[in-house]
Amino acid sequence: MSYLDTFALTGKVALVPGGGGAIGSAIAGALAAAGASVTVVDMTEERAEAAAGAIRATGAQVLALGADVTSEADCERIVAATVDRFGRLDIIVNAVGGGAGKVLFDAQDYPRDAWDWIMELNVRSTLLATQAAVKAMIAAGNGGVVVNISSVRADLGINAGYSAYVAAKGAISSLTRQWATEWARYGIRVNAIRPTFVDTPQVAMLLDDPAFKAGIVSRIPLGRVGDTSDMTGPVVFLASDAARFITGQVLGVDGGLTATQ
Ligand SMILES: NC(=O)c1ccc[n+]([C@@H]2O[C@H](COP(=O)([O-])OP(=O)(O)OC[C@H]3O[C@@H](n4cnc5c(N)ncnc54)[C@H](O)[C@@H]3O)[C@@H](O)[C@H]2O)c1
Repeated sequence: MSYLDTFALTGKVALVPGGGGAIGSAIAGALAAAGASVTVVDMTEERAEAAAGAIRATGAQVLALGADVTSEADCERIVAATVDRFGRLDIIVNAVGGGAGKVLFDAQDYPRDAWDWIMELNVRSTLLATQAAVKAMIAAGNGGVVVNISSVRADLGINAGYSAYVAAKGAISSLTRQWATEWARYGIRVNAIRPTFVDTPQVAMLLDDPAFKAGIVSRIPLGRVGDTSDMTGPVVFLASDAARFITGQVLGVDGGLTATQ
């Protein structure tokens, strides 16, 4: 085996809830390009298949499933379908989340329904999908990898009505450390990436404002916001055996933003 092979995911099976989304579809494609078989999950099978079809066209093994990962039953179903189709499950990348730009409210008036929605979308989705995947990993006894998507907002406030989102991403970063601690005994590593703004439809409304974007970019040493392809290498690395001694870490993928704070 060559040294570079430790970065490959040949023979591994990955589950990507939110794999039909902007960042999730880029990550699903990268996991497949690195050698993994991939289950792409999104709210509808059509949305999952739109991403899966492009990956399948590269010759990779891909399964597309519609599911709501805020439902325990759906999470059990996507894990069972993955094991049924590919024979195992090694990696879960939780790419469901976001919503921040859609519910911007002053902190003192932050509405309960918006708070609950952000928590469901980000925390409950990650919690339930991971619990289902990790139960299967523990039962199989082959170890495994969890990669979550947090945000620089877990650590940095922003003067833009983000109360629920910062709390949700803080929870994701904390759960990453907690799960790493609890599941190390099963050979399961848990890490997260922590992006700054990534140029995606979710944040287009904010980034379309030139003054807002200029303010964000001026604080990023590498001088630009992220691109979905910037997220893929870090996730593939964390999922690979090259990262075998890394667990409980939240890796900044932020052009250096947090280094300046
Ligand atoms: N875009 C950014 O600037 C940015 C920055 C930092 C972190 N993030 C995080 O990256 C992750 C992905 O963001 P994105 O911009 O790709 O968002 P996105 O909306 O493009 O992707 C999320 C996907 O999840 C799916 N989804 C939503 N609820 C679901 C559910 N209950 N069950 C199954 N699928 C569901 C959506 O249909 C969508 O395809 C989120 O956690 C977000 O917070 C994004």
